[in-house]
Parts: sequence; structure tokens; C-alpha cells
Amino acid sequence: MGRIRSAVALAALASVLILTACVPIGPGDDFGEAATPAQISSSAKPSISISLDTSKYENVWVKAIEEVENDGRSLLRVSYPFTEHEEINARMEAVTQAFVDEYRRTAAEIEASYQEYKAETGKEAATFITHFRQHFDVSAADESLIFFDLVRSISTGGTGNAYVVGYIFDRRSGAELALPDLFVDDSYLEQLSVLTREALAKRVSSEELASDLDWVEDGTAPTAANFDNILIRTDGTFLVRFDKYQVAAGVEGVVEVALPLADIADLLRPEVRELLGVEREAEESGTGVIETDATYAVAEAAFAFDGARSLANSAGVSTALPTGLSLTRPVGGLLQWFGAARQESSLSDESVNCQEVACVALTFDDGPSFYTDGLLDILKEHDVRATFFVLGTQVRIQSETVARMFREGHQIGNHTWDHPNLTNMPDDQIQEQLRLTDDLIVQLIGEPTPFLRPPYGAYNDRVLAASGLPIIFWSVDPLDWRDRDAAIVAARIMEAPVGAIILAHDIHKSTVDAVPAIINALRGRGIQFVTVTNLFEPQELHAQNVYIRQPELPSEQ
Ligand code: NI
Repeated sequence: MGRIRSAVALAALASVLILTACVPIGPGDDFGEAATPAQISSSAKPSISISLDTSKYENVWVKAIEEVENDGRSLLRVSYPFTEHEEINARMEAVTQAFVDEYRRTAAEIEASYQEYKAETGKEAATFITHFRQHFDVSAADESLIFFDLVRSISTGGTGNAYVVGYIFDRRSGAELALPDLFVDDSYLEQLSVLTREALAKRVSSEELASDLDWVEDGTAPTAANFDNILIRTDGTFLVRFDKYQVAAGVEGVVEVALPLADIADLLRPEVRELLGVEREAEESGTGVIETDATYAVAEAAFAFDGARSLANSAGVSTALPTGLSLTRPVGGLLQWFGAARQESSLSDESVNCQEVACVALTFDDGPSFYTDGLLDILKEHDVRATFFVLGTQVRIQSETVARMFREGHQIGNHTWDHPNLTNMPDDQIQEQLRLTDDLIVQLIGEPTPFLRPPYGAYNDRVLAASGLPIIFWSVDPLDWRDRDAAIVAARIMEAPVGAIILAHDIHKSTVDAVPAIINALRGRGIQFVTVTNLFEPQELHAQNVYIRQPELPSEQ
């Protein structure tokens, strides 16, 4: 591990620096929205540009890459830091490359579906877009430590995501530090748990946050996995970031709690206190020194603090290391279900169907899409019933597919007309969103949709009241929109507990490809696939209620 200051490399770089004013590339527009026609350029040629630029931070340069392909439907715009330290550069380049690789895979997949769709329908829907953006900020820096925040946003047609990943480096060695390395010991978790729980509970009770107290309690339990995303802001406050769904409904996205530095200052190691301008304690704790060499060796191999936030949330394990450091790494077979700890273990009464046999409800959102007919073939072949939460805009394009769903015994739920966040809409617009879709469905199958799944899982009391429908949430989210890998998606869903409502999207080829393995694995566990209505029978679903999973499970066989 060469820890040579790269004076030579820097000199070479200086000659190619483009000395324009540095503005890190911004996060761009909103996510979850389809591209407007104006965003699609008429140029057929891919365009790629790479630049290296000075930044407003000393000894930090900006490397930027921009690629525009597929007539503007695919856009990559990333920038990442370049420093005096080649180990820092290698790490930043590697994490950026992983993001770029993901973009290329996703863009190729979405472009292929676009071409298929266009060939089949002769239409040019604007939903087939892939926009990946990344820029960075330096949240704190001195001669010994530097904190980079990589700010990322991904937009893929109907779904999108934005998140920030923090990286901390020892500037003298180039070693990457994990979050626990900033603190004297693990007691910081307890403190963060108490402080954030208090702040979030206040927001829940004032209805500022779409969540409930159980949800907050689970998401703020004092584990390293729950608190592996903390950013230090230039004003010195600690920003604790909770992943989408960790403490609140998806509509809230990443939930942040800013804590005054003073509240946790005494838990920080001396070097960090110094960086942040906290008055130094008189005594120097022997354990307070960051052991850079040891840290580097383990940090290199670790996923810690690495943006796999939502995955680490439910599946992270804390690994004790010989150095006394603690790193969190995601483990295989990740699965996230909400409020799983709240699951009742009540026994079933003697009844039919899911009261007697183990069931799950497989649900597919955002379609129908080009892939849905293939999915229906698979479901038919395996004699599996599912529930489709369809978008009116898609039903309009693929009404045949929806009629087929109904014929083949699947259930059809309302996912609104064009996937807006209903919590931001006046009542009449909420109703319009549901009615437009419902009208189409009634024309096709002769009956209205029995329930609603709000886009982004976003609802509040007003949405509940205005919709006049039961709301079907989910208890298992395989994050299939993000990880476009059939094996990963299948592995997550295979672990679904009995009684689960499983969220998936039939707009991704990888998800559809995962379905045969999912069916085989769950059937192998003795689990039947039923529609949402079947899962709850004989209980009826009522308007203004939210259903997350089967409330009463069959007794053990
Ligand atoms: Ni959706």
C-alpha cells in the first residue's frame, strides 16, 4: 500500500486542469417523474465528456463525467473528488465506477425495453428514461481528516431515488474510516437512539412525519446498522440520516434529524473534536487515537458507511474487529419488511384458505408494462395468483394485458392515474387520479378496483378519507427497482414470512425473471400464492384502513 504523496501525479494533473469556476454538478431535477419531451434531445449520437476541475476546497479537485445516450433518454452526470492522496482517489473512483456501471446496465436494459415497446406499439412513451447523477461536497476537512458526501440521484421512468453517501478519510495515511471510528466507543448508539427518537416522535405527533411511533422505535433502535449514515454539516451539527422507509413512509424519502454537536461531543474521539472545533478535553484517552493502519486494512474490505443504507438497515451485522473497531457489513439474502417486529404471532381459528395454510400475496406495481404478458405466462404456467396495482396511463396503453390479468384470476388494484404523490394533492385531484383509472378498469373488466396502493407508499389521513378505499401497503420490499438483478430480487423475496404482502414491479425485466425461482422457493416452504383479498379472508377490507400483512397467521403445521 504505497502511501506516497503523489507529487508527480499532481504535477501532471496541473497541466490538464481546466480552470473554470468550479460548481459541483448539481442534483438536477426531481425524481419519480417521467421525462418531459423537452428533456429528450434529437441527437442520436452518444456524447461523453470528462473534465478535471479545481474545487473550492484546498487540494481537492473535481473529476466529472457526462454521458448522454439514446436520444437523451439515458443521462449520466457524475463528479467525484480527486485529492493529493492516491488511496483516497482510488476509493472514490471505485465507488463512482460502481455507480457508473449500474447506470450502464440500467440504461441498456431500459433502452432495450423502449425499443421493444416502440416496435410493438409504434409509440414513443416518455417513461423509458435513465438518469443517474452524482456530485460531491466536502462537509468537513482539516489536515488530518476529510469528510466527503457523495450526493446521488437516480431516475428510471416511474421510480426514482436520491441519497447521500458519506466517506471519511484520514488525510495523512489515505485510510478510509468507518463511522464508529469517530466515536470513543459504542455508547454513541444509545445516545443517538434517544435523541433521534425524541425528535422524530415529536414530528409524528404533530403529523409532520408520515409514520407512527412503532415505526420510529424500530428504525432508531441503538444498532450500528440504524446509525450508519451520519453527515457532519459545515455548521457543525450532526445530521443523522434515516433511509427511505427506515422510520417513515416512502414519501418522506430519507428522513434527517439534525443534532447539535454539543449533545454528542463528549462521545467523539479527540481528533474529530478538534476538526469540528469542539474544545479539547484535558486528558487524552488511550483509545481515542485513530489507529489508521489497522483501520485501513479493515475499511478496505468493508462495506461500512458505504451507501448500502437501506440494505444494511435490516440485515447489517456488527462485526467485532481485533482493533476494537466495529464495522457494519450487509449480509446475503437481504430482506426488508416494515414493522416486522410488530408482527402478531396470534394463531388462526379453524377456517378456510389462508387461515389454514401458509399464504403470501405477491403484488406488482406500476404496470402493465412490456414485460407483463411474459409475467402472466409464468404465473399461468405455475398456477399462481397475484395482484396488480396498475397505473391508468399504462392501462390505457395496454388494456389487453389488464383484461388478461382479470381473465386469469389475478386481482387488479388502483395505483392512480400517473403516479403522483397523493399527499400533496387537494381532495378533488386525489379522487380524479383514482376515478380516471377506475373508469378504464370498469370498461375492461366490468368492476371497479377494490383497493388502492398509493404511489411511493405515501398516504395521510386526507388521502385515506378522499380515496374511500382500503389501502394495501406491503410487508416485504425486495428493492427490485434499485437492484436490477433477478438473483438478488429472488433471494430477498424467498425469505418472505408467511402472511406477507410482497411488493414488486412488473416494469423491470429482472423482477419478472426472478419470479419462477420465487414461486419454487416459497412453494418449497409450503406457502401458497393468493390475491390480496384472499389473504385477508374471511376478514373484509374496509375503506380508510391500511393493510400491511395478514394479521392472523395459520398455526404451525
Ligand atoms: Ni409505484
